[in-house]
Amino acid sequence: MGNDLIQIGSMPPPQGAGAGVSAAQDMALGAETVGDGRTFYLETFGCQMNVHDSEKVAGMLMARGYRPVDSHQNADIILYNTCSIREKAAQKVFSRLGTFGKGRTGEGKIIGVLGCVAQQEGERFFERAPQVSLVCGSASYSKLPDLLAQLESGERRVSGLGLDTEDCFETELTRRDNRYRAYLTIIEGCDQRCAFCVVPMTRGPERSRSGAGILAECGRLVDEGYTEIQLLGQIVNAWQDPSPTRWSFAELVARVSEVAGVRRVRFTTSHPRYFTPEIVQAVDSHPALCDQIHLPVQAGSTELLSRMRRGYSRDEYLEKINCIRKAQRAISLSTDIIVGFCGESEKDFEQTLSLLAQVGYDQVFSFKFSLRPDTAALGFSDTVSEEEKGRRLAVLQELQRQNQLQRNQVLVGQVLEVLVEGFRPRLGQAVGRTTSNRVLNFPGEPADIGCYFPVQVTSAGPNSLIGKRVTGDHGAAAQAERRAAWKSR
Ligand code: 5AD
Repeated sequence: MGNDLIQIGSMPPPQGAGAGVSAAQDMALGAETVGDGRTFYLETFGCQMNVHDSEKVAGMLMARGYRPVDSHQNADIILYNTCSIREKAAQKVFSRLGTFGKGRTGEGKIIGVLGCVAQQEGERFFERAPQVSLVCGSASYSKLPDLLAQLESGERRVSGLGLDTEDCFETELTRRDNRYRAYLTIIEGCDQRCAFCVVPMTRGPERSRSGAGILAECGRLVDEGYTEIQLLGQIVNAWQDPSPTRWSFAELVARVSEVAGVRRVRFTTSHPRYFTPEIVQAVDSHPALCDQIHLPVQAGSTELLSRMRRGYSRDEYLEKINCIRKAQRAISLSTDIIVGFCGESEKDFEQTLSLLAQVGYDQVFSFKFSLRPDTAALGFSDTVSEEEKGRRLAVLQELQRQNQLQRNQVLVGQVLEVLVEGFRPRLGQAVGRTTSNRVLNFPGEPADIGCYFPVQVTSAGPNSLIGKRVTGDHGAAAQAERRAAWKSR
């Protein structure tokens, strides 16, 4: 997102709390001030779960008196929250570290690596990058303040690499970056062993947060002014209530959407294997559950799916899609695809293309297969060349671009409700998002951010829509309140 976009996260909070920190958090700030005003810079790579983990880490450090800054040059502590899902993503942290040379920074700065690459490399990281003095995986973030204290008292290298811990959910403070949409992790880790995927090794076994704990946090989020909640998990629908209530995942999402004040609920990422008709029924009967489901298929050929160890065939996946398509509401579908997995023949690839045409996705995230450490794919030999992977990716993306253009053009003339997430001053354009997760831009003003409006679609491209506001009383009172808050800031 260039400088040209004012986003939700860059706005002042509605009720006078500090940037992205709730009033309750403000009170807690300064309670324990071991950080003593020292500054930290935290950069995040990768998925929404990483983004949310960073929000928790920032909140935890701020509660202890550390102060966030926008550049590593001004920071006493530099932290990178890393991603290792693909080789390219994992490389990013090493290119960042390259700016510091191999020695310690010489300015007394602490450099720490968090997240999946930290977990994967463990203490080997110190040999690869001697300028790093802290490595910490996602299951050990509650230990971060202690680890920093050890470094400050003279320790040279510290690590937090335990995997199987449950104290990752109930963090005392979270510094959320977005003020209207809140991320909320309901399940950590992954017990699948997909042949391509490094996540079980970097995030550990599945641990679910209790239903009551989740609902309590939703209530607090509404009190703080959030109207959209996004439930997160590597496999979000593998969630199993660890408390005696034993709600199913479908019951949980229904209950979250019934919390007074919640206008939109999304959940990501669902695994087809655990996707049940009850989830579709919940979406159908709860208007606050967004009409959007992300259901990664990865490939269209049953043979390849079996080699990937996905646990479903093409037909079984299509049955789930059929169930979604039979819903009363038009539910928008998105997916993830890997091209060029070991042994993917031209025929396999054509089956992926035919699946895209058959399902009709509104969005597809597609990737070239990249071999990851400690995965079953390491034992497979018949590789696809980089050049061929690139060709297949381009073919798939062009097909999907055409599909999306066609699907979006059908929406011209319709009135859709958007939540405004940003503003482009140069174009005078408000950037909104529909419940189906499409970007819908329209002439607006910065004060529109955080408001819901009915917008009529006037034109459509493959990746976004353009529209104009129409009259209607969608949340008029809430809008008036936010505009007043914006104007009186
Ligand atoms: N290579 C390429 N893509 C991958 N993904 C996961 N592992 C790999 C890999 N080794 C993709 C999958 C997953 C998404 C988050 O990243 O499509 O759903």
